[in-house]
Amino acid sequence: MIAEALDRPESSMLCACADDRIVGYALYRHVLDEAELLRIAVSEEARRSGHGALLVGAIIDECRSRGVATIHLEVNGANHAAIALYARCGFAEAGRRKNYYGAGEHALLMVRDTAL
Ligand SMILES: CC(C)(COP(=O)(O)OP(=O)(O)OC[C@H]1O[C@@H](n2cnc3c(N)ncnc32)[C@H](O)[C@@H]1OP(=O)(O)O)[C@@H](O)C(=O)NCCC(=O)NCCS
Repeated sequence: MIAEALDRPESSMLCACADDRIVGYALYRHVLDEAELLRIAVSEEARRSGHGALLVGAIIDECRSRGVATIHLEVNGANHAAIALYARCGFAEAGRRKNYYGAGEHALLMVRDTAL
């Protein structure tokens, strides 16, 4: 999925490294003045060390410099760690897809204005 996404010119991937090893990555795509954060993950043993926030912050900076005004993402409403990370990085809830992941499992749509 990552290889396929990276074949497209609108997709970019950033990696977080520690001790010469990749401990996390984030994948996003941008088209004109909009971007979408597609995936982000930090390896379990490296979590809560700031890598996720660094990756999201780097995407915001990169998007801003590319003329992107708004970054969108979708997250499972039960994924409290990811929602906390996005909220801390300035994303706000913009909508919900009810039962998107199954009965009672909603998808949260979040958005971040890069000018803020
Ligand atoms: C979500 C994820 C990327 C966070 O990465 P991370 O490197 O642990 O995040 P950070 O250390 O940069 O955390 C930044 C802030 O996010 C919030 N946060 C992160 N993990 C959290 C958790 N488990 N519980 C509550 N808040 C959390 C906190 O506010 C944290 O700041 P703090 O540590 O000073 O309190 C990581 O948990 C992960 O890879 N999860 C599995 C994959 C996934 O769910 N990806 C998102 C799909 S949409």
